[in-house]
Amino acid sequence: MAKKSDVTLHPTRNTMSENTRGAMVGLLQKHLGTAIDVTYAAKQAHWNVKGMNFIAVHKLFDELHEKAEGYVDEIAERLTALGGQAVGTVQGASANTILEPYPTDLVDSEGHLKRLADHYANWGAAIREGISEADDAGDDLTADLLTGVGRGVEEALYFLESHFQSK
Ligand SMILES: [Fe+2]
Repeated sequence: MAKKSDVTLHPTRNTMSENTRGAMVGLLQKHLGTAIDVTYAAKQAHWNVKGMNFIAVHKLFDELHEKAEGYVDEIAERLTALGGQAVGTVQGASANTILEPYPTDLVDSEGHLKRLADHYANWGAAIREGISEADDAGDDLTADLLTGVGRGVEEALYFLESHFQSK
């Protein structure tokens, strides 16, 4: 494997430069860790939430989990298509995520909705930065992937915030 900056790449017939691929693999590794983190933050909320609107939020959190799992796979496979080595273990994700740890003692639904909204808002901001980074690097396909993920992440933020945003 060739070594460029701090990212090791597998050989590929992809014609994008090694520098660009290395930069995009670094960017995607961060979003892979974050996507895995969000996937299990949503499950943490799904399993532990309690309150009068229990069944609605219990189901919503599971849907968010499933969507986030889809992003995990899309991000990992773009990363490996560029010659990268996906870091998809819990320990690796924990080292790479941009998010603060999700609390394990939360119970009430408003707490989970607000805390998950923080996760999605922070990830959404990082995704928008990542889209610009990919655009500047000339990698339209990574920018497009992150755009799709970002649209889903901002939709999730809207679903979460709509529970406590009526005033
Ligand atoms: Fe379940």
